[in-house]
Amino acid sequence: LIIGDAPGELEDNLATPFQGESGEIVDMFLERCGSSRDEGFIANIVGCRPTSDRAPSKSEIRRCSDRIHKIIEYVDPFVVLILGAVAFKALLPGNGKISEVAKMRGELDPYAFTLTTPGTMVPIERLALVTWHPAYLLQNWTEKPNGAVHQALVTWKKAFTNADAYGELYLGE
Ligand code: URA
Repeated sequence: LIIGDAPGELEDNLATPFQGESGEIVDMFLERCGSSRDEGFIANIVGCRPTSDRAPSKSEIRRCSDRIHKIIEYVDPFVVLILGAVAFKALLPGNGKISEVAKMRGELDPYAFTLTTPGTMVPIERLALVTWHPAYLLQNWTEKPNGAVHQALVTWKKAFTNADAYGELYLGE
C-alpha cells in the first residue's frame, strides 16, 4: 500500500490517485524497483479534492480518518509506503514536526506502527516507510531526494516480497 495526501483535479475526474506528473513519478519509481501499480494499492489520506488544491486541513483529515483506516484494514498490507508530511502526520505517532519527517525520510529501515481502527479499536500492526512526496521531487529534482525515494521503494518491495524475514526482524512475528 502506498499513501499520499489528497486527490487533485485529474485524480478527482478519474477517481484514481496519482495521475499527471505526480503519477508519472510514482510509476517511474515503481518500475525502477521492479514493481507496478498492479502489485499493490495506492490511496490518499483524504478522499475529496481540497479546494484550489491546497493541503488538506486538520478537520478534513480527521473526517477522513475512518475511511483511510478502513482502506488499510481492507488492503491488509504488510508494509505501507508513506509519501510526504501530510500522510506521515495523519498516520504515524509523534508530533509530526517537519524535522521529524525529514529524519524519517532518510531511514532505510522500516519501522513498526500500530493503528487502532476507529470503532473496533483493534490494533493492527504494520511496517511503515516514509519518503518524499512526488510533488517535492517535481520541485527539487536532485540526486539526494531521488536516491532516497528509490531506496525507500526498493526497501518497500523487499519487505513485502520477504515478509517472513521482515516480520521476524521488525514485528517479532
Ligand atoms: N495525487 C494524489 O492522488 N495524491 C497526492 O498526494 C498527490 C497527487
